[in-house]
Amino acid sequence: MENKPNGEYLVIKAIDDGVNVIGLTRGTDTRFHHSEKLDKGEVMIAQFTEHTSAIKIRGNAKILTSYGEIKSGGSED
Ligand code: TRP
Repeated sequence: MENKPNGEYLVIKAIDDGVNVIGLTRGTDTRFHHSEKLDKGEVMIAQFTEHTSAIKIRGNAKILTSYGEIKSGGSED
């Protein structure tokens, strides 16, 4: 592993096309640094890193974290 394995992982599975997984920067300046588009069925495994302090998810997706499972988008579980 070349990266410092510091961060928690999120598993994000898109329920619909066009789910956006947006990384926000760490530090005093909080801004978007990356947006990844997932289509239905696609899975992204994303880590919090030295560059990423928050992850915003838009659209219908299932999200697994160490805190549990949640769905983003319209429908509650
Ligand atoms: N270069 C980014 C980083 O190391 C890549 C990244 C990690 C990312 N986690 C993310 C991008 C979550 C979007 C969402 O921080």
